[in-house]
Amino acid sequence: FEVTWDAAQAEKGGHSSFMEKEILEQPHAIADTLLGRTDSDGALILDELNIDPERLKAIDKIIIVACGTAYYSGLTAKYAIEHWTRIQTEVELAHEFRYRDPVIGPNTLVVSMSQSGETMDTLMAVKHAKELGALTIAICNTYGATIPRESDGALYTHAGPEIAVASTKAFTSQIAACYLLGLYLSQLRGGTYADDARSIMTELSEVPAHVQTVLDGMDRVREIARFMADSRSVLFLGRHVQFPIALEGALKLKEIAYIHAEGFAAGELKHGPIALIEPGQPVFIIMPSHDTPHDLHAKVVSNIQEIRARGARTLVITEEGDEAVRPFADEVIEVPKTSMMMMPMLSIIPLQVFACELATAKGLDVDQPRNLAKSVTVE
Ligand code: G6P
Repeated sequence: FEVTWDAAQAEKGGHSSFMEKEILEQPHAIADTLLGRTDSDGALILDELNIDPERLKAIDKIIIVACGTAYYSGLTAKYAIEHWTRIQTEVELAHEFRYRDPVIGPNTLVVSMSQSGETMDTLMAVKHAKELGALTIAICNTYGATIPRESDGALYTHAGPEIAVASTKAFTSQIAACYLLGLYLSQLRGGTYADDARSIMTELSEVPAHVQTVLDGMDRVREIARFMADSRSVLFLGRHVQFPIALEGALKLKEIAYIHAEGFAAGELKHGPIALIEPGQPVFIIMPSHDTPHDLHAKVVSNIQEIRARGARTLVITEEGDEAVRPFADEVIEVPKTSMMMMPMLSIIPLQVFACELATAKGLDVDQPRNLAKSVTVE
C-alpha cells in the first residue's frame, strides 16, 4: 500500500492548487458575504458595523486604503459608492497614505480593505487616519485580526480562509462587501439611489449564480492560457468600473506567471500605450456593459478596432450576445448579462483562471510565487 497524497493535498480537495480551489469557491464566498444583510422587507442591515447611524449619515468624504489586490477592489468599489451615495470617494495605497498629510475632517470615513487584516502598511494607515480624527471601518476576511480590532467598526467578508498568495475569492468578496457598505450609506442618507438599494441588492444577490456560470464555461480560457504559456508580455485594457479589473488581471499574471503584464484605462490608449502595440501583442479587453453611460461600450469597441488594425491579438471579455465586438476580436469570452456595477465580479474570473492555468502550464508553484508573501507584516 502506497500513500500517494499528503495532508496538504487533501486540504486542496482534489484540486491541483489552493489558488484553483479558491477561484472555484467564489460563488460561495460572495454568497456568504451577502448572507443575512437584509431584513424581511429587503432593507439593508449592517448592525455588525457597530457604528452610530447618525455618524454615518454625516460622512462627507470616504477614503479607501489598501495594498495589492485589495487596493484594486477599492478602486472598483469607488465607482459604485460615488454613484450610489454621491459621497466623494478616494482610493489610496496605504503606504502612500500613511506618510502623506491627507485632508481629513471629523466627517471623513476611512475604509481599510484587507484580506488578512494584518498588512502593516494598511494597519499604519488606519492608525494615521484615527490620529487625524477620521472614523474608521475595516473590511476584512479574518475575524479578530489587528486591523478590525484597531478600527471603529468592521464589516467582514466571509470568503473563508485564503491560502494561495495570489488573492482571488477575497477580491470578489471585498467588492461585494464594499457594495453593501455603499448601498447601506445610500439607504441611510436617503440619496438618489436609496429607493433603488433593494433592486441593486437583488442584482448583487444574483452575482454568485452568474460567477458559477462563468466558472462552468472556462475550458476555452484554459486552452488559450496553455497556448500562451510562452508569452513575454500581455496587456489589459478596461474602462469605467472595468478599468480596475484590467489592473487586477495584470497583477495576477505578474504575481504567479512572472510575465510582464500591464493594465491600462482604455481611454488612455492614445496617450502612450498604443505605442506598445505590434503584431501579435496579446491584449485582453475587459468591456463595460452596454448599460454603462456615455456610450462607453462603443468607445471601447473603437479602441479594439484601433489596436487590431496594428496587429494586436485581441481577447475580449464581454457580456453574452455582444455582437459589436466580434468583428475585431480574436477571442470572445462571454460572461452573463448583468448591470454595469456587477460586471467586475464576473469579468475578473476568466483572468484569474487564465493566470492560474498559464502558470501551471509553465510548471510554476501557483500557490507560493517567488519573492511574495501572503501577508506583508513588515514595511
Ligand atoms: C500581499 C499579497 C497580496 C495581497 C496584499 C494585501 O501583497 O501577496 O495578494 O493582495 O498583500 O493583503 P491584505 O491581506 O491586506 O488584503
